[in-house]
Amino acid sequence: MPKTTTQIQLIQPDDWHLHIRDGEVMKDVLADTARQFARAIIMPNLKPPVTTVDLANAYRGRIEANLNALGISSFTPLMTLYLTDNTSADEVRKAKSEGIVGLKLYPAGATTNSDAGVSDIKRCYAALEAMQAVGLPLLVHGEVTSADIDIFDREAVFIDQVLEPLRKDFPELKIVFEHITTRQAAHYVRDAQTSGKNSLAATITPQHLLMNRNAIFAGGIRPHNYCLPVLKREEHRIALLEAATSGNPRFFLGTDSAPHAKGAKEAACGCAGCYSAFNALGLYAEAFESAGKLDKLEGFASFFGSDFYSLPRNTKKVTLVKQAQSIPAELPLGDATIVPLRAGETIAWTLA
Ligand code: DOR
Ligand code: ZN
Repeated sequence: MPKTTTQIQLIQPDDWHLHIRDGEVMKDVLADTARQFARAIIMPNLKPPVTTVDLANAYRGRIEANLNALGISSFTPLMTLYLTDNTSADEVRKAKSEGIVGLKLYPAGATTNSDAGVSDIKRCYAALEAMQAVGLPLLVHGEVTSADIDIFDREAVFIDQVLEPLRKDFPELKIVFEHITTRQAAHYVRDAQTSGKNSLAATITPQHLLMNRNAIFAGGIRPHNYCLPVLKREEHRIALLEAATSGNPRFFLGTDSAPHAKGAKEAACGCAGCYSAFNALGLYAEAFESAGKLDKLEGFASFFGSDFYSLPRNTKKVTLVKQAQSIPAELPLGDATIVPLRAGETIAWTLA
């Protein structure tokens, strides 16, 4: 009988795609992430969006103030800019010189706070030229937005209509295809011919590794399992799990943990986003264990992202133990509450 694994040691992971919002609620969600991760890429889709280096620096200041108030000194936020039709090449060069790690492409109307997003990628060519030249990655929300494209096809159509032409025009641009949800995306990233080193990668969320679209409709509508890009069929989940656990450095951890208050989710027009930050590492461990690939978790969670972004790997070690943790039904979120992913259930793995 093979011995069952009950704990694993790994270099401390980072979260390469995270929403922490702003104002009162930030402190609550920041604490969950900082308990597990050393660094996280902070998404810029605030209201108004973080479109300039000055706004990003001010946002970083507010994050640091919250970290100080929480007594946390071991966590580093990595800042991004929100790409718009008007982002200039000068702003891109300033971003590079001030330590911004990437620019986020939200096709206008694709998701939460994306109204100011890009209306036509061709309008961004000056910014993209500059990003390619200075080596700043483009982080992509990969969905087309036209109402006539079925919501389950939007990612696959994005590959053909936007990503492939973009990669032809900018062969040396570093691109992260964020929170991929389909077999098409997993195979596209796996099989892409790249001329630059590491010029295409993808992040994968815990919910897309663990659930398929049935989870949105299990016995009734389940708003807390609704995110964008939306969960897909089982065949896609299997392809994502295969990619994440393959040891291919093009795939790495990005939770896309996206907090919305309970009332904004449980509504006639509920917001998109799953709050996975409470025990994200436990969720990933569960997914990797289900594939018999716990040995591949460290590369995915702790090495490949920092390698892609040319940042040093972390050195501190953490231990994940197989010890059931109950997920609370609700958690505080400013003066409201939030329902975390798998609320009221137990997760087998947790950080020691
Ligand atoms: O489900 C999502 N929520 N997907 C996104 O792309 C944005 C995010 C959010 O900010 O709430
Ligand atoms: Zn996101």
